[in-house]
Amino acid sequence: MEQNKDLNQFDIPLAKRIYLNNSKSILLKKLLLFSPFLFLLFSIFALRLIRNIGIGSFGDLNLQAQVNEDLRILGHLPYAEIPKEKLVFIEPNIKVHIDMRDSLLKMRDEAKKDGIYLVFLSGYRSINLQNEIFYSLKSFRNQDAAERARVSAPPGYSEHSTGFAIDIGDATQRETDFEAEFENTDAFKWLIKNAAKFHFKLSFTKDNKYIDYEPWHWRYEGSIEALKVFESSNRKS
Ligand code: DAL
Ligand code: ZN
Repeated sequence: MEQNKDLNQFDIPLAKRIYLNNSKSILLKKLLLFSPFLFLLFSIFALRLIRNIGIGSFGDLNLQAQVNEDLRILGHLPYAEIPKEKLVFIEPNIKVHIDMRDSLLKMRDEAKKDGIYLVFLSGYRSINLQNEIFYSLKSFRNQDAAERARVSAPPGYSEHSTGFAIDIGDATQRETDFEAEFENTDAFKWLIKNAAKFHFKLSFTKDNKYIDYEPWHWRYEGSIEALKVFESSNRKS
């Protein structure tokens, strides 16, 4: 008895229990119950949001890649050099792709029948020669690369290296060789009317943004190989 009395001297509080039985508490209980589910929903939503933002920036990257896929330099597309064994002479100093020789010579003959005298000025040019033309003349004329590229392709970027390009003049008006005035010659007028019959197309027209108008520069598109070579140019210009 003495011992119990001693124990009662210690004031040990009873554990209190709070029962969540009002409406706010019920809501809280429900929230607690559904919290894993809500957390899952939130995570899915957040993941989707991140993924969409991610796709957006990858989309931008893809667009950039497409832009970079167009491998133009200063407005010129890249062209590989034709293998030497596919080159043939059409003049003592002019070689072209063997696929275009017959069509080109036939075009000259047909023009002659109409009283038009075409003269061939330049055909195949090696990448080395194009290098000389581009860098020497650029330096000689004190032009920067973009200025020079308006009239001459950088090495590795000239249609002339494919063997499918030909510069044409009028034998009766040689002063217009490589000049925009060539467009006023009978030869040019005849070419505009007839060149397509022989599968030739003007490469650098007046609406080219980067490269000056070259009424003398024609390219051959009369074989699958030639069409493949100029596919990018035809698709994008
Ligand atoms: N003159 C043209 C652009 C070339 O150099 O290929
Ligand atoms: Zn040319």
